[in-house]
Amino acid sequence: MDKIGFVGYGSMGSMIINKILSSNIIAPEDMVVSTRSPNKLSKLEKEYPEIEIALDNLSLAEKCQRIFLFVGTGEVGGVIEEIKPKISEDTHIIYISAGLTIEIVESKFKGKITKVIPSLTSKVGEGVSLVCHNKKVTIGDVDFVWAVFRSLGSVKTIEEEDLEVATDLTSCAPAFIAQIFKEFSSAASNKSNLSQEDAEEMVIKTLYGTVKLICEGNMGFDEVVSRVATKGGITEEGIKVIQNRTPALFDELFKVTSQKNKNCKQILNKEWLN
Ligand SMILES: NC(=O)c1ccc[n+]([C@@H]2O[C@H](COP(=O)([O-])OP(=O)(O)OC[C@H]3O[C@@H](n4cnc5c(N)ncnc54)[C@H](OP(=O)(O)O)[C@@H]3O)[C@@H](O)[C@H]2O)c1
Repeated sequence: MDKIGFVGYGSMGSMIINKILSSNIIAPEDMVVSTRSPNKLSKLEKEYPEIEIALDNLSLAEKCQRIFLFVGTGEVGGVIEEIKPKISEDTHIIYISAGLTIEIVESKFKGKITKVIPSLTSKVGEGVSLVCHNKKVTIGDVDFVWAVFRSLGSVKTIEEEDLEVATDLTSCAPAFIAQIFKEFSSAASNKSNLSQEDAEEMVIKTLYGTVKLICEGNMGFDEVVSRVATKGGITEEGIKVIQNRTPALFDELFKVTSQKNKNCKQILNKEWLN
């Protein structure tokens, strides 16, 4: 009853499980994994023969007091129903589906619940995993979750009411950042003889250097701006455009993501209550 269970070996599940294994946070012999298409586990089984592969979610739940659910948002409820006969209020369920509130999961399961929002950047050991817990989670559980997700980058505990905005800044942001810099490169390419590829290469290398200046050179955003944009210079003109135009863009971005979150929650609420 003291193994740690992992249900779902898709995009996020495989990334997180492999990060946990490569960082030795949990020993493979302490892990049980189950997923809908077991053929996807063959590489994992070969690399880590000590990992137990469960035939189904119920037999996994029988052996585990901590269970990670890495299945799709629409599948979390079904898995909880399926494992219910083998879990108790002492079971700790850790799930990663942004749209599912802890309150709604509590309507099916009365035990310990943690919600984690990981980020694709964890693939390279960077970025922030956002974490929030329900009231039943103990300090020991909090430490366990922190240690596991620390192997994927930084961990930030947050109130669930701020989770949506924070998710935009961490989990959604790799896509937002990539799109912004693609547009920057396209505009440069349209205004010059530079190919899109050349423009993207320059922007990516500059982006990487800027992040290094901020993180390793201990510069804040304002310092980077003031060091580059000298008074009366060319960069300052570009900065003024960004200052004038982007607040409205980001207000709109948070507005539409918030509305989408509301719509998703309404649909999920209906599904869970039926
Ligand atoms: N992708 C991201 O960047 C990201 C970021 C943060 C959070 N999330 C959240 O992470 C969750 C998983 O996303 P994902 O992108 O990893 O999805 P995914 O690639 O579809 O992975 C889901 C996995 O769960 C398996 N599965 C489904 N139902 C199951 C069941 N009843 N029992 C056992 N296994 C089952 C699937 O099996 P099959 O292989 O047979 O389909 C699949 O391997 C979602 O809720 C998503 O919102 C994703």
